[in-house]
Amino acid sequence: MSRAYAWWQREIIYQIYPRSFQDSNGDGVGDLRGILSRVDYLTSLNVGAIWLSPIYPSPMHDFGYDVADYCAIDPRFGTMADFNELLVEIHRRGMRLIVDLVPNHTSDEHPWFVESRRDGDNAKSDWYIWRDPAPGGGLPNNWLSHFGGPAWTFDERRGQYYMHQFARQQPELNYRNPEVFEALLEVMRFWLDRGVDGFRVDVISLLLKDPLFRDEPPNPAWDGVRQYASLRHIHTGNLPEVHGLIRRMRALLDSRDARMMVGEVYLPNAELMRFYGGPEAPECHLPFNFQLISTPWQAGEVRAKVDAYEAALPPGAWPNWVLGNHDQHRLATRVGLAQARVATMLLLTLRGTPTCYYGDEIGLRDVALPRECWRDPVAINQPQIAHLLGRDPERTPMQWDSSANAGFAAAGVLPWLPVAGDHRTVNVAAESADPQSILSFFRALTALRRSEPALGVGAYRSIDAVADDVYAYLRSDGESRLLVVLNFAGGTRRLTLPRGLGDSRILLSTTCRLPEEAVVVDRLQLGPDEGIVLRLAEGPSGGAPSPA
Ligand code: GLC
Repeated sequence: MSRAYAWWQREIIYQIYPRSFQDSNGDGVGDLRGILSRVDYLTSLNVGAIWLSPIYPSPMHDFGYDVADYCAIDPRFGTMADFNELLVEIHRRGMRLIVDLVPNHTSDEHPWFVESRRDGDNAKSDWYIWRDPAPGGGLPNNWLSHFGGPAWTFDERRGQYYMHQFARQQPELNYRNPEVFEALLEVMRFWLDRGVDGFRVDVISLLLKDPLFRDEPPNPAWDGVRQYASLRHIHTGNLPEVHGLIRRMRALLDSRDARMMVGEVYLPNAELMRFYGGPEAPECHLPFNFQLISTPWQAGEVRAKVDAYEAALPPGAWPNWVLGNHDQHRLATRVGLAQARVATMLLLTLRGTPTCYYGDEIGLRDVALPRECWRDPVAINQPQIAHLLGRDPERTPMQWDSSANAGFAAAGVLPWLPVAGDHRTVNVAAESADPQSILSFFRALTALRRSEPALGVGAYRSIDAVADDVYAYLRSDGESRLLVVLNFAGGTRRLTLPRGLGDSRILLSTTCRLPEEAVVVDRLQLGPDEGIVLRLAEGPSGGAPSPA
């Protein structure tokens, strides 16, 4: 039966991209008071933790991921008083708040960098990664930026290059210098003292780079599209020493009550699992598990990924799942609107903590933007592949109602990114009034997850040979057994389920069919793009169906 689980194991994490959630002051950019005015909406989603993308002072070259002061609020987002109020209101409703921590780099306007670049001989001269030009001039080595071009920019004053794996306005801190790491721990203490419940840690696997600054080898599998992928990044990320830093961050969290961190790590299972640390030396409570975002949307492929991940988890490690964020094309664009419901059912019924991206619950899609509307440096720096990698399309304003600007900003205000053309029908108000909408489905699903320990914390086991294009699994907690069956196809599928499941009751369907309907599970039929959650009655044999 259920043992005691921590909040970050039980609850759904909901990511807010603050620029795009709710504008309260008419500047076209979302802000903290805007979020405050929508806190009851968050409650209505049955989510338990809110993750805010960065809200710190920033020149916004990377929309807040270029931080100019780790311990303050950007005036565009509000004040520290607004932040405190938001935290109180979130806590008052029994939810938690996770803030974004961006340790790998600062803005080039951060006072630390301003001082560091002054000369080679100041107190912070070694706080960033500075290198002399190569003998004979030119770049120190072949390292590349994720955002296109080299990972080095020459600074005239110091006569040296500084390193940046993202925009040139995001110089990377030098964590080989212990003072810098101490400064990071101070930043964490600052927010912990203010009462935040956790951190989402940006690019946590990149914090250390090769001390010898060796060239990275070519990637033989490169498809010629994205320059960054032309090298294998063995010297700029996932260095073994990074785990030592993460352990110390964890130790700080463990010195406080019930705090957590979730690390941004895009790595295959074997390496990803190392970011949990071990029982004696824990690291991330959750290293984000992004693999379903890039998995081809087919039942067999998805099942294989889930089962492999489950099998790879070290003892005691808690799973988690992500289907969207501010760096990825929208879920409903990737898999289509009908399958978005199936995908949402998957996300919220797998074992482990789900993270939901704002707007996916109402079926927001990528918004195609003309070039003059691009804001993301990834698109602007690499126009030829902007359609593949640009991140503006998934960051457009939340759609609250059918008014001008979708209720995101007052009429007449120019939002920082255009509101999608479908906002007159795709919005919170319209969907709340429609029991068949994806939002109503989302709320029913999150309520079910909350009320059923089998879904929240129960065991997981996938089932073989159900039907083509169908992925089925059991979730169980004590006597309670739920069966999730997902049809990835646009046609009807008749299921062949193991004998002995007996009569069962549908608790929820993506198509909102009647919840009370009793069905004989081994004669079950799924409609096109349908997913269902069933409660299994005791079978004739009284036991669980035989596993696959
Ligand atoms: C992370 C963020 C992304 C940002 C990058 C640099 O990947 O999610 O939005 O651009 O780090 O901070």
